Order: sequence, then structure tokens, then C-alpha cells
Amino acid sequence: MPSFFGGLLPSRPAQVDLGRAVRDVVRTHIPAYRDAVTEAAAVLPDVSPWPQSALTLVHRSTADLLLHPDSSPALRELLVRFVQGGLIRSPHLRGRLRAEMLRPKLVAAVTEHIAERRAAGGRADAPRDVLDAVIGACPEEVTDRTVAGLYVLLVVSIVGPTGYAVAWSVLLACLHHRPGSSWPWPADWIAREAARHRPVTWMVGRPVPHPAEYGGISLQAGTTLSVSPYLLHHDKDRWSDPERFRPERWDEPKKCGPYLPFSAGPFTCSGAAVAQTLVTEAVAALSSGGRLSVRGGDMRPVVTDGAVPRAFELQRIPTR
Ligand code: HEM
Repeated sequence: MPSFFGGLLPSRPAQVDLGRAVRDVVRTHIPAYRDAVTEAAAVLPDVSPWPQSALTLVHRSTADLLLHPDSSPALRELLVRFVQGGLIRSPHLRGRLRAEMLRPKLVAAVTEHIAERRAAGGRADAPRDVLDAVIGACPEEVTDRTVAGLYVLLVVSIVGPTGYAVAWSVLLACLHHRPGSSWPWPADWIAREAARHRPVTWMVGRPVPHPAEYGGISLQAGTTLSVSPYLLHHDKDRWSDPERFRPERWDEPKKCGPYLPFSAGPFTCSGAAVAQTLVTEAVAALSSGGRLSVRGGDMRPVVTDGAVPRAFELQRIPTR
């Protein structure tokens, strides 16, 4: 069992169904997301604080997908404040306290809303938003509160890594190109190379199910075996020039080495393909309508739940 669901949904088939239902509803909303992210990028101030602005951008562009506009305005507003908290475990005490205080409030408000939606009858066949998809995929015996916990987990897992992946893409592309000039790479290459160079999920772990030997080391059942996408993406024997940010390497993906920004195997990210699209669309929207440059950018990550960029400023000069 993966640790992703944190015991909230103990049957593996139910976890898989939930992941697929959420992925499907996100995929259906891609055209609306494309329009929304273009609009959100266009109204970005000339100078904006990142990576927070990336989370806001992704949240604005997915707000109706996460919670249908008919839902309570107070709940939608609470979600905005929750996203402003940063979504990962902040390395700073104040940030951590703010996030920890908001989460129970959000879970309580979502629980109440779920009770209303369940009482009104499900929409499993035609989910309008991620919340409908989560409700529809959860067996009836799962309590409203647990469904709310799963929903918040999914919101964090969609907006957080997507936003931080957009922030890395923008930062790395700006740092490796002449300030203020158009990038010479397709958005898709930038997103792929950023996820290689600075994968947000830098480490994944699994408990070893039975005594086993890996790489000549004996492991007992229950030992956590960790694999680092970051280290694999920087393996000099499998990648050419891995320390360089080089989007053009994605012109020849077959020559690339092991690549697992979305993990791998049976517990791989169910939203991997749509996540790649969400990041690419955001990068394309940001770069198409303006010339970008960064101030205070630094390639060293802050590492907590994920590996995220340090604070920097993005300057955007609209080109039309
Ligand atoms: C750039 C954005 C994203 C990244 C980097 C990412 C990364 C990951 C990784 C590495 C895992 C596996 C964790 C592990 O092995 O322990 C995972 C799991 C998962 N992700 Fe994502 N993810 C992203 C976006 C999304 C999106 C947009 C969705 C939903 C549409 C999503 C849904 C899930 C689900 C449901 C799982 C659990 C899969 C399972 O165990 O069955 N993710 N994600």
C-alpha cells in the first residue's frame, strides 16, 4: 500500500478508482484550464513574488474545477486562503502554524458541504468538479469527514506540485537565457527538463513487503526503501551533462536516462499525463504574452515535503 492516501482509504482498488476518477475530471477540464491560465497569466502584476504566485496562478486556473462555482462562496474563499499558506510543510515556524491552523477549518467546512451534496444525491456519472469525483469514487460507508480529508489531500496534490513545477520551469528557463528575450525552447521541453533537473518529488519510499535483497543489501520486511528521482535524474552514467539545464535534450527523449518525476511502478502518479499538460500550458501562457526575467533567483531548492524554489521575483513585460 502506498503512503500517499495516509490510511484514509484502506482498499487499494478504491484508491485506484479514486485516482482515476480525479484524473478523468481534470482531463475533461483541460480546455477550460487553458483559457483560465491564459487569463491568469495576463493579469499577473509586472513584478510578482514567486513561487507563491505560481500556486495562486494554478489555483486561479483550476478553482472552478476544484470546487464548482455553485459551491458556497465562503468555502471557495477558504480554499484560496489555504493555497496562500503554501501547501507544503513550510520550513518556517510561522508558515507552518498558519497552514496547520487552516487545515482543520477547511476539512470541517468541506465535510459540511459533502453532507449537503451527498444528501442531494451523487453525481458520480457526470462529476462537475474534483469534489464530485471524490464523493462518487468513495464507497458509501466512507464518512463525510474522511471524504473531506481525501479531497483536501487531492487539492494539495494537484495544486502544490503543479504550481511548484511551473515555478521551477520559469526560474530555470529565465536563469539559462538572456533576460527579457523570448525563450528558444517549446514549453513542453522546458517543463520536462525542469522536472528532471529539479523534481518536486525528490524522494519516494515504500515499505519492503517481505525480506529481500536490493543492490547486495539485505532488507527486512517493513524497512522503508527509498528511491530518489533527483539522484537518478543526475546520474552521470545515464544522462549526458546532467548538471546542466538543457531543454533541447528532450528533442531526443530516447537518449534520455531514467526519468521519474511522477514516480514509477504500480503506485505511480495517476495524474502524470494531465499534470504534464497543466504545467506545460501554464509555462506557455506565461511566456507567450510577455518577456520574463527573474530577480533573486537561486537554483538551490528548499527541501521539506518537496523540493521547491527559494523566493524570487518574476518581472514580466507584456508584449501585447
Ligand atoms: C507536476 C505535478 C505532479 C507531480 C510532480 C506529481 C507527483 C506524484 C508522485 C511522485 C506520486 C507518487 C508518490 C509515491 O510514489 O509515493 C504521485 C501520486 C499521485 N498523484 Fe501526483 N503529481 C502531480 C500532479 C498530480 C495531479 C494533477 C493529480 C490528479 C489529477 C495527481 C494525482 C495523484 C494521485 C491520485 C496519486 C496517488 C497514486 C496512487 O497511489 O494510486 N497528481 N504524484
